[in-house]
Amino acid sequence: MRHELQNTRFMRWLDQRTGIWHMTHEALDEPIPGGARWAYVFGSGLLYILLSQIVTGVFLAMYYVASADHAHTTVEYITKQVTAGSFIRSLHMYGSSAMVVTLLVHLGQTYFFGSYKGRREILWMSGLILFSLVIGMAFTGYLLPWDQKAYFATAVGTNIAGEVPLIGDWLKALMRGGTEMGTLTLSRFFVAHVFLIPGTIFLFVGTHIYLFRKAGSAGPINEDPITPKQKPEQFYPKQVLMDFVFATILIGTLGLLSYLSPVELGPKANPSDTQFLPRPEWYYLPIFQWLKYWAGAWAVIGIVVIPGVVAALLVALPFMDRKLERRPWKRPVASFSFAIVLCGLIFLGWQSGHEDSTDPAVAKQLVKQTEETETFMNTKFQPEMMGSPLLIAAPLSPEAAKGKKVFVDNSCDGCHGDNGQGTENGPKLIGVSLKFDHDEMVKVLHNPTKKMRDGNMDPVDISDEDMNLLISYLNSLK
Ligand code: HEC
Repeated sequence: MRHELQNTRFMRWLDQRTGIWHMTHEALDEPIPGGARWAYVFGSGLLYILLSQIVTGVFLAMYYVASADHAHTTVEYITKQVTAGSFIRSLHMYGSSAMVVTLLVHLGQTYFFGSYKGRREILWMSGLILFSLVIGMAFTGYLLPWDQKAYFATAVGTNIAGEVPLIGDWLKALMRGGTEMGTLTLSRFFVAHVFLIPGTIFLFVGTHIYLFRKAGSAGPINEDPITPKQKPEQFYPKQVLMDFVFATILIGTLGLLSYLSPVELGPKANPSDTQFLPRPEWYYLPIFQWLKYWAGAWAVIGIVVIPGVVAALLVALPFMDRKLERRPWKRPVASFSFAIVLCGLIFLGWQSGHEDSTDPAVAKQLVKQTEETETFMNTKFQPEMMGSPLLIAAPLSPEAAKGKKVFVDNSCDGCHGDNGQGTENGPKLIGVSLKFDHDEMVKVLHNPTKKMRDGNMDPVDISDEDMNLLISYLNSLK
């Protein structure tokens, strides 16, 4: 079939200009020593998840506004109003978890089966860089909804960066865009999440795949990683099919999860809340728990020294471990340290959950936070209630715009706020049209009630024409 296609005039024309047949040949006819296996599906599974993250991410970015006043409202809008918005947002959030899990399996497998051996040092390092980039994506993405848990978890995360000796304060200010968290923090996290890190990820995914193809598949654990001896099988069709089946199962599972249990959004971040207990995404829990052990003067060791040593060991691994032996049982040191680290992480994660459920004060606060999220999810979306009347509302009609001028000229804004949102000297006027019809409004403005006069509001003395304009402005405050 491929050869028939190759010999059409159009394909010859295209190939002479692009070399496309050579490329598809390279891509599909890659030899796999020992043949296709289900064990090899994780790397390409990651590519499929990346693709899904891009598609859902672009969709979310079309609605999202990265500012402290609007971010939460726009995410609420996606979650409660937009058709399939909650589904797509859930896909994106579950996708990030799936990415981390699949990445850990891929990394663990490469380590455990010694597939980093045999001239694969740079390939291994590009993988480690991709790993940290994905962790960076998870960290920067978590803040964007600007709800309570996003805000307080990121406050913790950036504070940890502040503990780094010498450059800590600078690092923290760089992430936050100042000393406090606000619109600049969101804007920086957004830029990192949609431009900087993804751009770098594309670069390294390209590098990683290129280097993988250059080194060739390492094959099963009893295979020589430099000069394979087992009978090879081509990547296409069997491995392609297996990869595809795995991707379908992955994406299908994510879709089912998103449909059955959509991701929630909590109430908007309230920086003055002193009770809120931040809890990170589950895959950060072991690290979160780990940091509890390193308070005060010892913090540097837990935050910088030990993670630094682990990272350095990982990078150095293919340089230190030069033997070509790949069977785990013949590499006791490597396998044993792998098992210890894995058990350690599982234990820390378990301990974090255990401490939360056994401390009554903590457990109570966490239940309260869950209830607040439920309550928030059950309230209807009302953009005007979120302190951002202009967000999705239509622009003012010409009359209302002129009326707004009358409103300002008569200093109504002094007590009722620039957009009628209210100040401490006067109530909000948003929705006031529901209270008074036109004639009643004229009456109450000409003859303010006792309460209004007590609040120092003078009778409104303007022409009938201005009065009509003013009222059309008041009616537009919804
Ligand atoms: C000195 C402050 C002040 C200024 C200036 C002021 N108001 Fe008021 N206004 C008040 C207070 C206080 C009340 C509410 C009294 C109460 O508790 O019912 C009020 C109530 C109102 C109400 C009724 C709201 C309701 O929900 O019942 C309207 C309408 C209103 N103001 C319109 C205006 C307009 C239009 C202007 C400008 C011409 C204006 N106000 C200027 C203080 C002010």
